[in-house]
Amino acid sequence: MSNKMWGGRFSEVPAKFVEEFGAVIKVETRLCPYDIQGSLAHVTMLGETGIIAQEDVEKIKAGLHQVGQEIKDGKFQFNAEDEDIHMAIEKRLTELIGSAGGRLHTGRSRNDQCCVDSYLYFRDAAKECQKLLLEIQKSLYEQAEKNFGTIQPGFTHLQVAQPVLTSHWLMAYFWMFKRDFDRLQSFLDRLVECPLGAAALAGTDFPIDRWSTAKQLGFEKPTENSIDTVADRDYCIEFASIAALSYMHMSRLCEEIIIFASQEYKFIELSDDFTTGSSIMPQKKNCDFAELIKGRTGRMYGYLQAMLTMMKGIPLAYDKDMQEDKFLSYETIDLWQNTMKVMAPMIRKMKINAKRTYQAASHGFSTATDMADYLVKKGMPFRDAHRVVGQTVRYCVEKDKTFDDLTLEEFQQQSNLFTEDIFKEISLEHSVGARKSYGGTSPEAVKVQLEHAEEFLDKVHQKLG
Ligand code: ARG
Repeated sequence: MSNKMWGGRFSEVPAKFVEEFGAVIKVETRLCPYDIQGSLAHVTMLGETGIIAQEDVEKIKAGLHQVGQEIKDGKFQFNAEDEDIHMAIEKRLTELIGSAGGRLHTGRSRNDQCCVDSYLYFRDAAKECQKLLLEIQKSLYEQAEKNFGTIQPGFTHLQVAQPVLTSHWLMAYFWMFKRDFDRLQSFLDRLVECPLGAAALAGTDFPIDRWSTAKQLGFEKPTENSIDTVADRDYCIEFASIAALSYMHMSRLCEEIIIFASQEYKFIELSDDFTTGSSIMPQKKNCDFAELIKGRTGRMYGYLQAMLTMMKGIPLAYDKDMQEDKFLSYETIDLWQNTMKVMAPMIRKMKINAKRTYQAASHGFSTATDMADYLVKKGMPFRDAHRVVGQTVRYCVEKDKTFDDLTLEEFQQQSNLFTEDIFKEISLEHSVGARKSYGGTSPEAVKVQLEHAEEFLDKVHQKLG
Protein backbone atom coordinates (compact mmCIF):
# COMPACT_ATOMS: atom_id res chain seq x y z
CA MET A 1 0.00 0.00 0.00
CA SER A 2 1.16 3.54 -0.74
CA ASN A 3 2.05 5.69 2.27
CA LYS A 4 0.43 8.78 0.70
CA MET A 5 -2.36 10.45 2.67
CA TRP A 6 -4.75 9.13 0.04
CA GLY A 7 -2.75 5.87 -0.26
CA GLY A 8 -5.38 3.38 0.90
CA ARG A 9 -6.55 2.52 -2.59
CA PHE A 10 -3.14 2.36 -4.24
CA SER A 11 -0.57 -0.37 -4.59
CA GLU A 12 2.03 1.62 -6.54
CA VAL A 13 3.25 5.20 -6.23
CA PRO A 14 4.32 7.50 -9.06
CA ALA A 15 8.04 7.68 -9.85
CA LYS A 16 9.89 10.69 -8.49
CA PHE A 17 9.87 12.57 -11.80
CA VAL A 18 6.15 11.94 -12.20
CA GLU A 19 5.56 13.16 -8.67
CA GLU A 20 7.58 16.31 -9.37
CA PHE A 21 5.49 16.88 -12.50
CA GLY A 22 2.28 17.01 -10.48
CA ALA A 23 3.51 18.87 -7.41
CA VAL A 24 2.57 22.47 -6.79
CA ILE A 25 3.99 22.58 -3.29
CA LYS A 26 7.14 24.58 -4.00
CA VAL A 27 5.23 27.18 -5.95
CA GLU A 28 2.45 27.81 -3.47
CA THR A 29 4.37 28.25 -0.23
CA ARG A 30 3.01 31.81 -0.04
CA LEU A 31 -0.38 30.26 0.75
CA CYS A 32 0.83 28.69 4.00
CA PRO A 33 -0.23 31.44 6.42
CA TYR A 34 -3.66 31.51 4.78
CA ASP A 35 -3.94 27.73 4.93
CA ILE A 36 -3.25 27.82 8.66
CA GLN A 37 -5.73 30.68 9.11
CA GLY A 38 -8.41 28.73 7.21
CA SER A 39 -7.75 25.57 9.21
CA LEU A 40 -7.95 27.45 12.50
CA ALA A 41 -11.36 28.81 11.52
CA HIS A 42 -12.49 25.38 10.34
CA VAL A 43 -11.44 23.58 13.50
CA THR A 44 -13.00 26.26 15.69
CA MET A 45 -16.26 25.68 13.87
CA LEU A 46 -15.89 21.87 14.21
CA GLY A 47 -15.64 22.44 17.95
CA GLU A 48 -18.54 24.90 18.11
CA THR A 49 -20.83 22.45 16.31
CA GLY A 50 -19.69 19.50 18.41
CA ILE A 51 -18.45 17.64 15.33
CA ILE A 52 -15.15 17.02 17.11
CA ALA A 53 -14.34 17.15 20.81
CA GLN A 54 -13.08 20.40 22.32
CA GLU A 55 -10.01 18.59 23.57
CA ASP A 56 -9.02 17.71 20.00
CA VAL A 57 -9.80 21.25 18.86
CA GLU A 58 -7.30 22.63 21.37
CA LYS A 59 -4.64 20.12 20.34
CA ILE A 60 -5.15 20.89 16.66
CA LYS A 61 -5.01 24.64 17.23
CA ALA A 62 -1.79 24.40 19.21
CA GLY A 63 -0.33 22.12 16.53
CA LEU A 64 -1.34 24.46 13.73
CA HIS A 65 0.33 27.38 15.51
CA GLN A 66 3.48 25.31 15.84
CA VAL A 67 3.48 24.35 12.16
CA GLY A 68 2.93 28.01 11.30
CA GLN A 69 5.92 28.96 13.38
CA GLU A 70 8.12 26.31 11.75
CA ILE A 71 7.17 27.69 8.34
CA LYS A 72 7.89 31.25 9.45
CA ASP A 73 11.27 30.21 10.82
CA GLY A 74 12.17 28.49 7.55
CA LYS A 75 12.39 25.11 9.28
CA PHE A 76 9.59 23.48 7.34
CA GLN A 77 10.49 20.94 4.65
CA PHE A 78 8.48 21.27 1.45
CA ASN A 79 8.71 17.96 -0.43
CA ALA A 80 7.24 17.09 -3.82
CA GLU A 81 5.89 13.83 -2.41
CA ASP A 82 3.39 15.84 -0.37
CA GLU A 83 1.93 17.33 -3.58
CA ASP A 84 0.65 20.53 -2.08
CA ILE A 85 0.89 22.60 1.09
CA HIS A 86 -2.49 21.40 2.34
CA MET A 87 -1.22 17.83 2.61
CA ALA A 88 2.19 18.84 3.87
CA ILE A 89 0.76 20.95 6.68
CA GLU A 90 -1.75 18.30 7.71
CA LYS A 91 0.94 15.63 7.66
CA ARG A 92 3.22 17.70 9.87
CA LEU A 93 0.32 18.48 12.19
CA THR A 94 -0.32 14.79 12.68
CA GLU A 95 3.36 14.14 13.28
CA LEU A 96 3.27 16.77 16.01
CA ILE A 97 -0.02 16.00 17.78
CA GLY A 98 -0.80 12.43 16.77
CA SER A 99 -4.14 11.06 15.64
CA ALA A 100 -6.15 14.18 16.62
CA GLY A 101 -4.50 15.83 13.58
CA GLY A 102 -6.43 13.45 11.36
CA ARG A 103 -9.72 14.99 12.54
CA LEU A 104 -8.98 18.43 11.08
CA HIS A 105 -10.09 17.48 7.59
CA THR A 106 -13.57 16.45 8.75
CA GLY A 107 -16.28 18.10 6.64
CA ARG A 108 -13.98 19.74 4.13
CA SER A 109 -11.92 18.84 1.08
CA ARG A 110 -8.79 20.20 -0.48
CA ASN A 111 -11.08 21.53 -3.19
CA ASP A 112 -12.73 24.11 -0.94
CA GLN A 113 -9.60 24.46 1.17
CA CYS A 114 -7.43 25.60 -1.74
CA CYS A 115 -10.15 28.10 -2.73
CA VAL A 116 -10.41 29.67 0.69
CA ASP A 117 -6.62 29.97 0.84
CA SER A 118 -6.58 31.65 -2.54
CA TYR A 119 -9.41 34.03 -1.69
CA LEU A 120 -7.59 35.12 1.47
CA TYR A 121 -4.33 35.53 -0.41
CA PHE A 122 -5.93 37.45 -3.28
CA ARG A 123 -7.53 39.83 -0.81
CA ASP A 124 -4.09 40.84 0.46
CA ALA A 125 -2.44 40.78 -2.95
CA ALA A 126 -5.11 42.99 -4.53
CA LYS A 127 -4.85 45.51 -1.70
CA GLU A 128 -1.08 45.58 -2.14
CA CYS A 129 -1.59 46.22 -5.86
CA GLN A 130 -3.92 49.09 -5.00
CA LYS A 131 -1.23 50.62 -2.80
CA LEU A 132 1.33 50.31 -5.57
CA LEU A 133 -1.03 51.82 -8.14
CA LEU A 134 -1.54 54.68 -5.76
CA GLU A 135 2.22 55.30 -5.67
CA ILE A 136 2.25 55.58 -9.46
CA GLN A 137 -0.71 57.95 -9.34
CA LYS A 138 0.99 60.07 -6.71
CA SER A 139 4.17 60.32 -8.77
CA LEU A 140 2.14 61.45 -11.81
CA TYR A 141 0.25 63.94 -9.69
CA GLU A 142 3.46 65.36 -8.21
CA GLN A 143 4.97 65.79 -11.68
CA ALA A 144 1.77 67.44 -12.89
CA GLU A 145 1.94 69.93 -10.01
CA LYS A 146 5.64 70.56 -10.42
CA ASN A 147 5.40 71.19 -14.16
CA PHE A 148 2.17 73.14 -14.08
CA GLY A 149 2.21 75.73 -16.88
CA THR A 150 4.60 73.79 -19.11
CA ILE A 151 3.25 73.48 -22.65
CA GLN A 152 3.93 70.61 -25.01
CA PRO A 153 2.45 69.39 -28.23
CA GLY A 154 -0.46 67.01 -27.90
CA PHE A 155 -0.41 64.33 -30.58
CA THR A 156 -2.75 62.27 -32.67
CA HIS A 157 -1.21 59.72 -35.06
CA LEU A 158 2.04 60.78 -33.36
CA GLN A 159 1.74 63.98 -35.41
CA VAL A 160 1.59 67.27 -33.57
CA ALA A 161 -2.08 68.06 -33.05
CA GLN A 162 -2.80 70.81 -30.54
CA PRO A 163 -0.79 72.27 -27.67
CA VAL A 164 -1.60 70.92 -24.21
CA LEU A 165 -0.30 71.40 -20.72
CA THR A 166 2.25 68.76 -19.79
CA SER A 167 0.27 68.35 -16.58
CA HIS A 168 -2.73 67.44 -18.69
CA TRP A 169 -0.74 64.77 -20.50
CA LEU A 170 0.57 63.33 -17.23
CA MET A 171 -2.85 63.32 -15.63
CA ALA A 172 -4.28 61.35 -18.55
CA TYR A 173 -2.38 58.38 -17.10
CA PHE A 174 -3.44 59.22 -13.56
CA TRP A 175 -7.08 58.56 -14.49
CA MET A 176 -6.24 55.33 -16.30
CA PHE A 177 -4.59 54.04 -13.14
CA LYS A 178 -7.53 55.27 -11.09
CA ARG A 179 -9.84 53.08 -13.15
CA ASP A 180 -7.46 50.14 -12.61
CA PHE A 181 -7.62 50.90 -8.90
CA ASP A 182 -11.42 50.93 -9.03
CA ARG A 183 -11.44 47.67 -10.96
CA LEU A 184 -9.41 46.08 -8.17
CA GLN A 185 -11.91 47.45 -5.69
CA SER A 186 -14.82 45.89 -7.49
CA PHE A 187 -12.83 42.63 -7.71
CA LEU A 188 -12.41 42.77 -3.93
CA ASP A 189 -16.08 43.61 -3.45
CA ARG A 190 -16.96 40.36 -5.22
CA LEU A 191 -14.58 38.27 -3.14
CA VAL A 192 -16.78 38.38 -0.06
CA GLU A 193 -18.35 34.93 -0.08
CA CYS A 194 -16.53 32.17 1.73
CA PRO A 195 -15.85 28.94 -0.20
CA LEU A 196 -15.01 26.86 2.87
CA GLY A 197 -17.57 24.16 3.49
CA ALA A 198 -18.36 23.50 -0.17
CA ALA A 199 -16.24 20.39 0.48
CA ALA A 200 -15.35 18.19 -2.50
CA LEU A 201 -18.25 19.45 -4.66
CA ALA A 202 -21.53 18.51 -3.02
CA GLY A 203 -21.31 19.93 0.48
CA THR A 204 -21.03 17.62 3.48
CA ASP A 205 -23.23 15.44 5.67
CA PHE A 206 -21.58 16.82 8.82
CA PRO A 207 -23.60 19.60 10.49
CA ILE A 208 -21.02 22.30 9.71
CA ASP A 209 -21.74 25.99 10.23
CA ARG A 210 -20.53 27.82 7.14
CA TRP A 211 -21.59 31.18 8.55
CA SER A 212 -19.21 30.71 11.43
CA THR A 213 -16.17 30.05 9.24
CA ALA A 214 -17.20 32.83 6.84
CA LYS A 215 -17.42 35.30 9.70
CA GLN A 216 -14.19 34.20 11.34
CA LEU A 217 -12.34 34.71 8.07
CA GLY A 218 -13.82 38.15 7.39
CA PHE A 219 -16.26 37.15 4.65
CA GLU A 220 -19.85 38.36 4.50
CA LYS A 221 -21.45 34.97 3.96
CA PRO A 222 -20.84 31.50 2.52
CA THR A 223 -21.03 30.90 -1.24
CA GLU A 224 -24.38 29.74 -2.62
CA ASN A 225 -23.49 26.68 -4.67
CA SER A 226 -20.91 24.10 -3.69
CA ILE A 227 -20.28 22.90 -7.26
CA ASP A 228 -19.72 26.41 -8.56
CA THR A 229 -17.52 27.19 -5.59
CA VAL A 230 -14.94 24.50 -6.23
CA ALA A 231 -15.24 24.52 -10.02
CA ASP A 232 -14.52 28.10 -10.96
CA ARG A 233 -11.40 30.17 -11.16
CA ASP A 234 -13.09 33.26 -12.53
CA TYR A 235 -11.54 35.34 -9.76
CA CYS A 236 -8.04 34.41 -10.96
CA ILE A 237 -9.02 35.29 -14.52
CA GLU A 238 -10.65 38.52 -13.45
CA PHE A 239 -7.56 39.53 -11.54
CA ALA A 240 -5.32 38.62 -14.49
CA SER A 241 -7.48 40.67 -16.81
CA ILE A 242 -7.23 43.70 -14.52
CA ALA A 243 -3.47 43.19 -14.36
CA ALA A 244 -3.19 42.83 -18.14
CA LEU A 245 -5.22 45.96 -18.68
CA SER A 246 -3.23 47.99 -16.21
CA TYR A 247 -0.01 46.63 -17.65
CA MET A 248 -1.15 47.90 -21.04
CA HIS A 249 -1.51 51.37 -19.48
CA MET A 250 1.99 51.14 -18.05
CA SER A 251 3.33 49.92 -21.36
CA ARG A 252 1.88 52.89 -23.24
CA LEU A 253 3.36 55.31 -20.75
CA CYS A 254 6.71 53.56 -21.13
CA GLU A 255 6.53 53.86 -24.89
CA GLU A 256 5.86 57.59 -24.61
CA ILE A 257 8.71 57.98 -22.15
CA ILE A 258 11.05 56.22 -24.57
CA ILE A 259 9.97 58.41 -27.49
CA PHE A 260 10.05 61.61 -25.45
CA ALA A 261 13.47 60.77 -24.01
CA SER A 262 15.00 60.26 -27.46
CA GLN A 263 17.49 62.76 -28.86
CA GLU A 264 14.97 63.84 -31.45
CA TYR A 265 12.38 64.88 -28.85
CA LYS A 266 14.30 65.51 -25.61
CA PHE A 267 11.03 66.31 -23.78
CA ILE A 268 12.00 64.07 -20.89
CA GLU A 269 15.13 62.96 -19.18
CA LEU A 270 15.02 59.87 -17.02
CA SER A 271 17.27 59.88 -13.99
CA ASP A 272 20.52 57.96 -14.37
CA ASP A 273 19.39 55.19 -12.03
CA PHE A 274 16.53 54.33 -14.36
CA THR A 275 18.64 54.13 -17.50
CA THR A 276 21.64 52.13 -18.70
CA GLY A 277 24.59 52.85 -20.96
CA SER A 278 25.74 51.11 -24.09
CA SER A 279 28.79 48.87 -23.96
CA ILE A 280 30.08 50.37 -27.20
CA MET A 281 28.45 53.78 -27.79
CA PRO A 282 29.43 56.12 -24.97
CA GLN A 283 26.84 58.79 -25.78
CA LYS A 284 23.87 56.52 -25.10
CA LYS A 285 21.47 56.63 -22.22
CA ASN A 286 18.97 53.89 -22.81
CA CYS A 287 15.53 53.63 -21.21
CA ASP A 288 16.05 49.90 -20.60
CA PHE A 289 13.58 49.57 -17.75
CA ALA A 290 10.79 51.28 -19.65
CA GLU A 291 11.61 49.01 -22.60
CA LEU A 292 11.53 45.93 -20.40
CA ILE A 293 8.14 46.85 -19.00
CA LYS A 294 6.84 47.27 -22.52
CA GLY A 295 8.43 43.96 -23.48
CA ARG A 296 6.99 42.08 -20.53
CA THR A 297 3.47 43.10 -21.46
CA GLY A 298 3.42 40.04 -23.70
CA ARG A 299 4.03 37.79 -20.74
CA MET A 300 1.27 39.47 -18.79
CA TYR A 301 -1.26 39.00 -21.57
CA GLY A 302 0.00 35.43 -21.82
CA TYR A 303 -0.97 34.63 -18.22
CA LEU A 304 -4.51 35.79 -18.89
CA GLN A 305 -4.66 33.85 -22.14
CA ALA A 306 -3.31 30.73 -20.44
CA MET A 307 -5.89 30.86 -17.66
CA LEU A 308 -8.81 31.45 -20.00
CA THR A 309 -7.67 28.52 -22.10
CA MET A 310 -7.04 26.33 -19.06
CA MET A 311 -10.65 26.78 -17.93
CA LYS A 312 -12.51 26.63 -21.20
CA GLY A 313 -13.24 22.92 -21.34
CA ILE A 314 -13.22 21.72 -17.76
CA PRO A 315 -16.27 19.66 -16.86
CA LEU A 316 -17.71 20.58 -13.44
CA ALA A 317 -16.51 20.38 -10.73
CA TYR A 318 -12.82 20.29 -9.77
CA ASP A 319 -10.28 18.91 -12.23
CA LYS A 320 -6.55 19.03 -11.70
CA ASP A 321 -6.08 21.35 -14.68
CA MET A 322 -7.17 24.06 -12.30
CA GLN A 323 -4.07 23.71 -10.16
CA GLU A 324 -2.33 25.70 -12.90
CA ASP A 325 -4.09 28.75 -11.48
CA LYS A 326 -1.37 28.87 -8.81
CA PHE A 327 1.60 29.19 -11.16
CA LEU A 328 -0.20 31.66 -13.39
CA SER A 329 -1.70 33.83 -10.67
CA TYR A 330 1.55 34.17 -8.76
CA GLU A 331 3.49 35.10 -11.85
CA THR A 332 0.80 37.65 -12.69
CA ILE A 333 0.87 39.16 -9.23
CA ASP A 334 4.66 39.18 -8.91
CA LEU A 335 5.25 40.70 -12.33
CA TRP A 336 2.61 43.35 -11.85
CA GLN A 337 3.79 44.31 -8.37
CA ASN A 338 7.48 44.32 -9.28
CA THR A 339 6.77 46.47 -12.31
CA MET A 340 4.75 48.99 -10.34
CA LYS A 341 7.59 49.25 -7.85
CA VAL A 342 9.91 50.31 -10.70
CA MET A 343 7.38 52.51 -12.43
CA ALA A 344 6.56 54.89 -9.56
CA PRO A 345 10.10 56.15 -8.82
CA MET A 346 10.98 56.19 -12.51
CA ILE A 347 8.16 58.69 -13.06
CA ARG A 348 8.85 60.57 -9.87
CA LYS A 349 12.49 61.18 -10.78
CA MET A 350 12.15 62.08 -14.45
CA LYS A 351 12.77 65.65 -15.61
CA ILE A 352 10.62 67.51 -18.08
CA ASN A 353 12.45 69.86 -20.44
CA ALA A 354 9.97 72.75 -20.72
CA LYS A 355 12.05 74.65 -23.26
CA ARG A 356 12.06 71.71 -25.65
CA THR A 357 8.39 70.88 -25.27
CA TYR A 358 7.51 74.54 -25.95
CA GLN A 359 9.72 74.65 -29.02
CA ALA A 360 8.24 71.44 -30.36
CA ALA A 361 4.72 72.81 -29.95
CA SER A 362 5.69 76.03 -31.79
CA HIS A 363 7.38 74.19 -34.63
CA GLY A 364 4.62 71.74 -35.24
CA PHE A 365 1.92 74.26 -36.30
CA SER A 366 -0.01 73.07 -33.27
CA THR A 367 -2.22 76.17 -33.28
CA ALA A 368 -3.49 75.60 -36.82
CA THR A 369 -6.96 74.77 -35.45
CA ASP A 370 -6.97 78.03 -33.49
CA MET A 371 -6.10 79.87 -36.69
CA ALA A 372 -8.99 78.24 -38.54
CA ASP A 373 -11.37 79.00 -35.66
CA TYR A 374 -10.19 82.63 -35.82
CA LEU A 375 -11.21 82.89 -39.48
CA VAL A 376 -14.53 81.21 -38.74
CA LYS A 377 -15.23 83.75 -36.01
CA LYS A 378 -14.55 86.44 -38.62
CA GLY A 379 -17.26 84.99 -40.87
CA MET A 380 -15.46 82.44 -43.07
CA PRO A 381 -17.08 78.98 -43.44
CA PHE A 382 -15.02 76.34 -41.61
CA ARG A 383 -14.17 74.35 -44.75
CA ASP A 384 -12.70 77.47 -46.40
CA ALA A 385 -10.84 78.37 -43.22
CA HIS A 386 -9.39 74.83 -43.12
CA ARG A 387 -8.08 75.30 -46.68
CA VAL A 388 -6.61 78.76 -46.00
CA VAL A 389 -4.76 77.49 -42.93
CA GLY A 390 -3.57 74.44 -44.84
CA GLN A 391 -2.12 76.74 -47.49
CA THR A 392 -0.49 78.87 -44.79
CA VAL A 393 1.14 75.76 -43.32
CA ARG A 394 2.42 74.76 -46.76
CA TYR A 395 3.79 78.26 -47.27
CA CYS A 396 5.64 78.04 -43.93
CA VAL A 397 7.02 74.57 -44.74
CA GLU A 398 8.32 75.80 -48.11
CA LYS A 399 9.94 78.87 -46.51
CA ASP A 400 11.11 76.92 -43.45
CA LYS A 401 9.16 79.19 -41.11
CA THR A 402 6.89 78.72 -38.09
CA PHE A 403 3.62 80.64 -37.62
CA ASP A 404 5.48 82.94 -35.25
CA ASP A 405 7.87 83.99 -38.02
CA LEU A 406 5.13 85.26 -40.32
CA THR A 407 4.50 88.98 -40.79
CA LEU A 408 0.98 90.44 -40.99
CA GLU A 409 1.51 90.97 -44.73
CA GLU A 410 2.30 87.30 -45.20
CA PHE A 411 -0.85 86.39 -43.28
CA GLN A 412 -2.91 88.78 -45.37
CA GLN A 413 -1.58 87.20 -48.56
CA GLN A 414 -3.46 84.10 -47.41
CA SER A 415 -6.67 85.90 -46.37
CA ASN A 416 -7.62 89.52 -45.89
CA LEU A 417 -9.58 88.56 -42.77
CA PHE A 418 -6.29 88.33 -40.85
CA THR A 419 -5.58 91.41 -38.73
CA GLU A 420 -3.04 92.27 -36.01
CA ASP A 421 -4.90 90.21 -33.37
CA ILE A 422 -3.96 86.95 -35.14
CA PHE A 423 -0.61 86.89 -33.35
CA LYS A 424 -2.18 86.67 -29.94
CA GLU A 425 -4.78 84.23 -31.15
CA ILE A 426 -2.24 81.67 -32.29
CA SER A 427 0.14 81.92 -29.34
CA LEU A 428 0.52 78.64 -27.51
CA GLU A 429 -0.60 80.20 -24.23
CA HIS A 430 -3.77 81.53 -25.80
CA SER A 431 -4.53 78.26 -27.51
CA VAL A 432 -4.12 76.26 -24.31
CA GLY A 433 -5.90 78.89 -22.18
CA ALA A 434 -8.90 78.94 -24.47
CA ARG A 435 -9.70 75.25 -24.00
CA LYS A 436 -11.64 75.83 -20.82
CA SER A 437 -14.23 73.09 -21.39
CA TYR A 438 -14.57 70.68 -18.46
CA GLY A 439 -11.73 68.16 -18.66
CA GLY A 440 -9.91 70.34 -21.21
CA THR A 441 -6.33 71.51 -21.14
CA SER A 442 -6.66 75.15 -20.00
CA PRO A 443 -4.84 75.87 -16.74
CA GLU A 444 -8.20 76.54 -15.07
CA ALA A 445 -9.63 73.22 -16.18
CA VAL A 446 -6.48 71.32 -15.25
CA LYS A 447 -6.55 72.92 -11.78
CA VAL A 448 -10.03 71.47 -11.26
CA GLN A 449 -8.72 68.11 -12.44
CA LEU A 450 -5.83 68.27 -9.99
CA GLU A 451 -8.21 69.14 -7.17
CA HIS A 452 -10.33 66.12 -7.96
CA ALA A 453 -7.26 63.93 -8.15
CA GLU A 454 -6.17 65.16 -4.75
CA GLU A 455 -9.60 64.41 -3.31
CA PHE A 456 -9.32 60.87 -4.66
CA LEU A 457 -5.84 60.40 -3.20
CA ASP A 458 -6.94 61.69 0.22
CA LYS A 459 -10.03 59.53 0.32
CA VAL A 460 -8.21 56.39 -0.69
CA HIS A 461 -5.29 57.04 1.61
CA GLN A 462 -7.58 57.19 4.58
CA LYS A 463 -9.19 53.92 3.53
CA LEU A 464 -6.02 51.98 2.82
CA GLY A 465 -4.18 53.44 5.81
N1 ARG B 1 -3.33 21.44 -4.99
C1 ARG B 1 -4.66 21.41 -5.50
C2 ARG B 1 -4.94 22.65 -6.32
O1 ARG B 1 -4.33 23.64 -6.05
C3 ARG B 1 -5.65 21.35 -4.36
C4 ARG B 1 -6.91 20.67 -4.69
C5 ARG B 1 -6.69 19.24 -4.85
N2 ARG B 1 -7.91 18.55 -5.05
C6 ARG B 1 -7.96 17.34 -5.61
N3 ARG B 1 -9.11 16.85 -5.77
N4 ARG B 1 -6.88 16.70 -6.00
O2 ARG B 1 -5.73 22.65 -7.21
